[in-house]
Amino acid sequence: MADTAQHPTPSWPHRHLLALADLCVEELRHVLITAQGFEGVSTRSVKKVPALRGRVVVNLFFEDSTRTRASFSLAASRLSADVLDFSAKGSSVSKGETLVDTARTIEAMGIDAIVLRHHLSGAAVHLARNVQCSVINAGDGQHEHPTQGLLDLYTIARRLGRDGNEEGREPFDLEGITVGIVGDIAHSRVARSNIHGLIALGATPILIGPPTLLPGGFREMGCELSHDLDAVLPRLDVVNCLRIQFERMSGAAFPSVREYAAMYGLTAARLARGKPGLVVMHPGPMNRGIEIDAAVADGPQSAVLEQVGHGLAVRMAVLFLCMTAKS
Ligand code: NCD
Repeated sequence: MADTAQHPTPSWPHRHLLALADLCVEELRHVLITAQGFEGVSTRSVKKVPALRGRVVVNLFFEDSTRTRASFSLAASRLSADVLDFSAKGSSVSKGETLVDTARTIEAMGIDAIVLRHHLSGAAVHLARNVQCSVINAGDGQHEHPTQGLLDLYTIARRLGRDGNEEGREPFDLEGITVGIVGDIAHSRVARSNIHGLIALGATPILIGPPTLLPGGFREMGCELSHDLDAVLPRLDVVNCLRIQFERMSGAAFPSVREYAAMYGLTAARLARGKPGLVVMHPGPMNRGIEIDAAVADGPQSAVLEQVGHGLAVRMAVLFLCMTAKS
């Protein structure tokens, strides 16, 4: 695969990545193809390209994160950028400083991109309007998590052989693929980003969960809704299991965790009733025994660790494209 760093892409127009809803199908495909070019960097003995040498990326995280934060840091350093890690905890934010004041203070130190995670939906859009540097949304409240959406699309295409030009298709064409997203759709920024990307690339998303976690409004986005996992499971090519986001709920959304797991948990017995090649995904962190059983999470159909690996390539692509955009 060609080294994307050697092939600048002057046509990329976006300085920020705030939502997958903002990207057209050609742009989505372009990021995924760029990620494909970067994937090989991780397997070299020197895992670095000079694409962003001399640039500075700041991780500005107002919510907990393990994989997203580490993935962005590593992606930036593989592009030879300098990385500054900034947590709200222990900073002036706990003294009442606003998001924009915090960001502008950091920006005054001469940085090129802010990777923002924030508990409020719309925080990334707000920040992008108030700073000069690139803003990459690493998850804003219940709104979007665009790089997770991209890495999920990448993983689906990879597993199902849609990442090349097979059968005369465009790379990353997901026409004819049915993807079940199961669980706490209501509070999930991962689900929203996935839905936009899946529909744009031609896949059919089916959202599955209890009525309290599956608002009817998702039908208007072009999704089929179901409260019965067992009924739709045989139709799925991919099942993406989501964590119940208790931290975003004000009351109980179902009678008990045990009852939820019995109806919506992906067990080995359920998996056996799906298509033989059914791909199992989870954005992490996983609650084993609730939305996914350990045997499934660690089994051969699980793409969970591949998702993590692809996340690195996708984030390299996003940082590279946004930080070299010609807008
Ligand atoms: C997700 C998130 O933070 O939105 N995790 C992630 O980024 N890998 C999903 C979750 O927290 O359940």
